[in-house]
Amino acid sequence: MRTWQDEQVQQHHYPILYEVEETHWWYVGRRRIIQCLVEKICTSLNSPNPRILDVGCGTGRLLLDYLAQGIDIDGVDISPEMLAFCAEKAQQLGLHPRLFEQTMQQLELPRTYRTIMVPSSSFQLLTDPHDAQEAMCRFFRHLEPGGILVMPFMLLWRGPSTQRIVQGAWELNGEAVRPEDGGTIRRWTRSTLDIAEQIEATEDRYEVLRDGAVVATEMHVRSPATRWYTQQQALYLYEEAGFTSMQIFKEFSGEMASVEDTVFSIVGMRP
Ligand SMILES: C[S@@+](CC[C@H](N)C(=O)[O-])C[C@H]1O[C@@H](n2cnc3c(N)ncnc32)[C@H](O)[C@@H]1O
Repeated sequence: MRTWQDEQVQQHHYPILYEVEETHWWYVGRRRIIQCLVEKICTSLNSPNPRILDVGCGTGRLLLDYLAQGIDIDGVDISPEMLAFCAEKAQQLGLHPRLFEQTMQQLELPRTYRTIMVPSSSFQLLTDPHDAQEAMCRFFRHLEPGGILVMPFMLLWRGPSTQRIVQGAWELNGEAVRPEDGGTIRRWTRSTLDIAEQIEATEDRYEVLRDGAVVATEMHVRSPATRWYTQQQALYLYEEAGFTSMQIFKEFSGEMASVEDTVFSIVGMRP
């Protein structure tokens, strides 16, 4: 349902997302995976400055942390709104990130890197298999020989199903107060899985509440939203693009993954 107040809701989309990404266990946990791995990799490369590219850097949570530690890191993101948040936050912190507005599947940057990371399973936002293959080739080309690509994945469904389509329940995953009028903005999400295609569709429902009553609603549907991969399928993507020496790590640790793990990160090297 769209209402005449859509624009009022729409302009709050990014601040809410920003707030959710800062605090919600899902985003916080997924960031922790990559942080842990990158630190491990820096140690193993014996390189205190591993020249990182943060793909899908968003509002810069990881990028700005690393930059503040003196690590040479660039960011790329498809969204000018996300990059504007990142630049604003950087300015407040006195940092000067190099940010590029590009897509990962058309990546064309002026330099190469020791490490390319795609945090928060953002690679899974590429739902077209050709885009995914192209992005892998672009990552390969933007790495120095010996450089590594690290990406976390999340398997959204495993095992057989009698249904082809599985729909989840609505979940509240963000709430903020609008300073202008004290209205509460709520974000609800629901996902629908196409088991055969390994594709997730998502619905975000934004509500404006005054005195506990919903006075406006806006729906955002993304279909398709993400593609999921088994460990084997993700490994194949790396191999196909020319990566070698792949290792699969378990969710929030630097431990090797078992075949049962549904949250895993793959590290592969450009020979
Ligand atoms: C879930 S957010 C992750 C943000 C950040 N990496 C973090 O962990 O906080 C996904 C990010 O990927 C960006 N993105 C989506 N599709 C992209 C694409 N094809 N190329 C580059 N960035 C993309 C979005 O704009 C968004 O900032």
